[in-house]
Amino acid sequence: MRLGEGAGCDGAVRRCDGPVRRCDGLAFHRTLAPDPRSFALDLRTADRSVIRVKTQVGIVGAGPAGLLLGHLLHLNGIDSVIVDNRSRAYVTDRVRAGVLEQGTVDLLNAMGVGARLQRLGLRHEGLYVSFRGRRHRINLADLTDGKAITVYGQNEVVHDLIDARSATTRPLHFEAKDVSVGALESSSPALRFRHGDTEHEVHCDFIAGCDGFHGICRPSIPAGVLNVYERVYPFGWLGILAEAPPSCDELVYTLHERGFALFSMRSPTITRLYLQVPPDEPIERWPDEAIWREMLTRMTTSDGWSPTMGRIIQKGVTPMRSFVAAPMRHGRLFLAGDAAHIVPPTGAKGLNLAASDVLVLARALKAYYERGSTEWLDEYSDLCLRRVWKAQRFSWWMTSTLHRSPDENAFDHQRQIADLDYLTSSRAAMASLAEQYVGLPAEVSFESAGLSVRR
Ligand code: FAD
Ligand code: DHB
Repeated sequence: MRLGEGAGCDGAVRRCDGPVRRCDGLAFHRTLAPDPRSFALDLRTADRSVIRVKTQVGIVGAGPAGLLLGHLLHLNGIDSVIVDNRSRAYVTDRVRAGVLEQGTVDLLNAMGVGARLQRLGLRHEGLYVSFRGRRHRINLADLTDGKAITVYGQNEVVHDLIDARSATTRPLHFEAKDVSVGALESSSPALRFRHGDTEHEVHCDFIAGCDGFHGICRPSIPAGVLNVYERVYPFGWLGILAEAPPSCDELVYTLHERGFALFSMRSPTITRLYLQVPPDEPIERWPDEAIWREMLTRMTTSDGWSPTMGRIIQKGVTPMRSFVAAPMRHGRLFLAGDAAHIVPPTGAKGLNLAASDVLVLARALKAYYERGSTEWLDEYSDLCLRRVWKAQRFSWWMTSTLHRSPDENAFDHQRQIADLDYLTSSRAAMASLAEQYVGLPAEVSFESAGLSVRR
């Protein structure tokens, strides 16, 4: 058992009584006295204890980006502290992504966290695009030298990564309050948070902002530093999980007169479906019968295919936006995943981009700790943004081709149909979609991030 910071992931802090202990080989301090070096906003009272630790990388956010980064660093012998303001149950139960690119699957396997993914993940070598009542199959594997996507819930990825983190006994704190970062331009940025009456100050070499779109890291960057590029769509997705065996082996993306619909799945007994709705649609407006009626209206094809119905066990509405904040670095703060960029989900790219960001970041941090080189840290933002913008373009194209827009006219809709007709009848167009959907080649090799390749 490690001394000092709570090992494991229950959010509990195991206290140390002595004034100085070791935590992951670094100095560990606990004091009850106010510290003159603390931030101005520190509201500590005399009876509130303060735990100070040093680590190499402070990671804000225990979503896919933060947990993947933490494990990549661990595999390279680099210490980190991960902090999330939600509970463990919240992050493992949240229903979000389902589609993993080939490269993300390869990465999870190379990191040694792919055992459940290999057992439970559903490998898909194709997908369907449906319009004018007909499904058209795109053979992903055939068009990409055997690559595929794997359907495996984001909550399962997070579950596997939390298990892996727990096994390392490195710190992972859930339900942290008042998380903040500071001194970003110094050589020792700080990550601060509170658990109950205990204040934590983590002095870091670097901070990774993996805290999603609504996190605190990006807003901690001074005004005027970031360029923000944004498009908000005039629609959202109503998503459901249903206890129903999937009626098709592969995903079906549908453009219907009444709007977009998507057929997906999570397991041989659970179907995942999405429906285009207005962005601010109250979920209360959609009783289960209305959801099924609309799903069947949009998805049923002329060959009689439709999704199998079942009990709805989860439902919610997600708005859609495209967003990029650049550069993805300020001083010693590095943004990764949704903290830096959001894509509309139609291209299934968000989690996959988070994975590619942290691979690039892990390689750069490894080079820094092994050779003292800052070259790859300096390249981090530009390298990530090249992939991010290609994923933005693809996600925007998938979204605008497959959704009905309130401000479109008859010409726009006919153009959409022609786009889909061309896509599904041209091998070149299908190959272009396929190589982007299974994932463009990684920016950096797994080996350069310290992984031995086990594909
Ligand atoms: P997040 O998952 O948002 O994680 C951020 C973490 O930071 C959270 O745990 C949060 O609790 C924590 N946090 C936030 N604020 C703070 C704070 N102040 N202090 C401490 N911690 C904080 N992507 C795909 O690749 N494929 C798909 O098929 C796909 N489908 C999707 C379907 C839907 C309906 C949606 C909504 C998204 C989909 N995505 C998909 C996108 C994907 O879910 C996200 O891109 C992914 O979650 C990004 O991971 P992240 O770790 O960057 O951020
Ligand atoms: C799923 C989500 C997506 O965003 C997508 O494009 C395809 C499938 C899913 O949740 O299964």
